Amino acid sequence: MFKEKTIVLGITGSVAAYKAADLASRLVQAGAAVEVIMTESAQKFIAPLTLRALTNRQPVTSMWQDANKFSIEHVSLADAADAVLIAPATANTIARLACGLADDILSSTVLATRAPVIIAPAMNCNMYENAATQANIAALKSRGFTFVEPESGRLACGAEGKGRLAAAEVILAALDAVLNRKNDLAGRSIVVTAGGTREPLDPVRYVGNRSSGKMGYALAAAARDRGASVRLVSTVDMPDSSGLSVIRVETAAQMLEAVRDAVKGADALIMAAAVADFRPSTVAGDKIKKGATSLDLKLEPTPDILSEVKGDFVRVGFAAETVDLIGNAKKKLAGKNLDLIVANDVTAPDSSFGAETNMVTLLFKDGHAEDLPLMPKRAVAEKILDYLAVRLS
Ligand code: PMT
Repeated sequence: MFKEKTIVLGITGSVAAYKAADLASRLVQAGAAVEVIMTESAQKFIAPLTLRALTNRQPVTSMWQDANKFSIEHVSLADAADAVLIAPATANTIARLACGLADDILSSTVLATRAPVIIAPAMNCNMYENAATQANIAALKSRGFTFVEPESGRLACGAEGKGRLAAAEVILAALDAVLNRKNDLAGRSIVVTAGGTREPLDPVRYVGNRSSGKMGYALAAAARDRGASVRLVSTVDMPDSSGLSVIRVETAAQMLEAVRDAVKGADALIMAAAVADFRPSTVAGDKIKKGATSLDLKLEPTPDILSEVKGDFVRVGFAAETVDLIGNAKKKLAGKNLDLIVANDVTAPDSSFGAETNMVTLLFKDGHAEDLPLMPKRAVAEKILDYLAVRLS
C-alpha cells in the first residue's frame, strides 16, 4: 500500500504516543520508509529507541541533533516526505501549526513541506471541543490539511468523550486515500444521502433511527477527493464538508424533494441514508402531554425515494438488514431498480450504525456479488466508487 513512499511520522506528547509505534510498524510492513520526528514531550511518553527499532532509522528528536543522512534536517525531511502524518497530535501542536510556528523540528518540517499533511488528534475531550482547538482545526482544514477525527469513548484522563486517537486502520486508510488519490471521477456529478431521517410527532419529538451519517459522509468525501462534484443531502452536520454542496434536510419527504432536485443532470445517486419507512400520520401542534396511561401512535408509509426518483443516472442503494441479509438485499436491488446494492448486516457492532468500520457485500444488477472484509467506512466508499468510476467511464 505504501511501497516506495517516504512517510514522515510526527509523534507529539500524548498518552496515545505508544500507539504511534504500532502505526510505524504497520507502515514499514506496508512498504514505507518511515522517518520519525518526536517532539520533546513525545519522548516523555515513548522512547526514540522503540521507533528506531521498528523503522530501522534514527528518529529526529531535536532541531539541533547531528544530522544523519539529511543535511539540513527540517528542509530535507520536508522535501523527502511523500506525506507527513502526525499521530497523535496534541491540541498544542495543532495550535502551533495553525499559527505557522517553526520553533521545533516538527513544526518546521510541516511549514517547509509541500507534501500532504494528515493529522490524527488525541487529547482530553474538553480540549478537543474547545472553541480555540476547533478554530485551529478549521483553519488547517481550509489550508488543505486532512484530519482523522478522534473517536469517542473513555479517555486516559478518565473522562468520557471525543478525543481518543482514531484506530490505526482508519488513520492508514486516510493516509492511503491522500497518497493514492485517484482523479477518476473528475467531471462527474454525484448525489449522496447521509444520516437518518427524523419524522416529527410533535414540536419537540420525532421518530428516528441510529444512523450517524458516517457512511454517507465517507462516500461524499471520497467522491469529492476523486474529482467529482458532490451534492450531499444530509440530516446531520458533518465536521468537514469543505468542497461539498450540502443540502440539510430532516424528514423523508424533505429528502425526497432535495434528492429529486439534486439528481437533475447527475451521473449517479448513492442512497446511504437510513430513511424512515413510516412516519406519524398526524403531527401534534403542541407538545403531547403526559398523563394518559397509554398513547397510540398511528403511522403511515413515507415515500420511497429510490423508487420515486427517476432519471438517467447510476443508482446505488444500501440494504440495512438484521435477518436474511442477501435475500432481502436482492429483493431491494430488483424492487428499487438499482445498479448496485450494498448489503449491510447491522447486527454486527463493527458494521452498524455509528461504527467507524463496515463489512458489506456488493450485489450487482448483473447478478454477481463481492464480499468485502471489515474495513473503514472510507475504504468501503472507495470500493463503491471504483465500481462507479468504471461504470461511468
Ligand atoms: O450512518 P452510519 O451510522 O454510518 O450507518 C450507515 C448505515 C447503516 C445507515 C448505512 O450503511 C446503510 O445501510 N444505509 C441504508 C439504511 C436503510 O435505510 O436501509 P433500507 O434497507 O431500509 O433501505 C434500502 C434503500 O432504500 C436504502 O438505500 C435507503 O436509503 C432507500 N430508501 C429507504 C426508505 C425510503 N423511504 N426511501 C429510500 O430511498
